[in-house]
Amino acid sequence: MTSLDLLLSRFSTDALTQPAPDPAQLERILSAAMCAPDHGRLRPWRYVVIRDDARAKAAELIVASMKRLDPDVAEAKIEKRRGRFSTMPLTIALGMHLRPDHKIPLIEQEMAVAAAAMNVLNALHFTGFGGVWVSGDVTYDPQLAAQLGFPSPHRLAGFLFVGTPSPDAKSPRRRPVDGYVAQWDGVPVHFAADEKSAD
Ligand SMILES: Cc1cc2nc3c(=O)[nH]c(=O)nc-3n(C[C@H](O)[C@H](O)[C@H](O)COP(=O)(O)O)c2cc1C
Repeated sequence: MTSLDLLLSRFSTDALTQPAPDPAQLERILSAAMCAPDHGRLRPWRYVVIRDDARAKAAELIVASMKRLDPDVAEAKIEKRRGRFSTMPLTIALGMHLRPDHKIPLIEQEMAVAAAAMNVLNALHFTGFGGVWVSGDVTYDPQLAAQLGFPSPHRLAGFLFVGTPSPDAKSPRRRPVDGYVAQWDGVPVHFAADEKSAD
């Protein structure tokens, strides 16, 4: 299998079992973040590693955030989210260490965080692990962000659930890329992916 074959076989999954990467493996995996494209070398990505007993504590912070955002939130939704955060083999909170007054626009700082997260997802896959990037409304709760270490203007970009993909986790069928590519010859392009019949 070539490196490109390996890249093309990556997929997200929350069907994750132990083991999660151990600290040494995780350091190598997270090092992939340091290779992300990054305008101004601001390195705005931050990772909060949540494992073992810290998972239950993090789950309670998530539940408190859900209730803060929606006092009428359904108990079933709370239990589902609590279960996921307290049982995933490892969770990484994705932080964005943002500098609003910097000449590099905020959107570019945020895109660097996303590029770094993608590198981490790929590194997980390349080392036999797997994961999924999740967000949800709690991601945008400034109080939760501060509790995790990201007081305003810093923010959360979501969470990576990380572990070993269960054997039945399968790569989805991917669409061919042709519909998302166009050759430019002087006039605005159209993409087959945007045609009404494409979806
Ligand atoms: C910023 C961001 C937030 C996401 N949040 C969620 C989420 O809350 N729940 C979810 O099921 N998928 C979420 N996804 C999508 C999954 O991470 C994943 O990309 C999707 O399930 C498709 O799987 P694939 O990566 O194998 O194509 C999010 C993706 C991104 C980039």
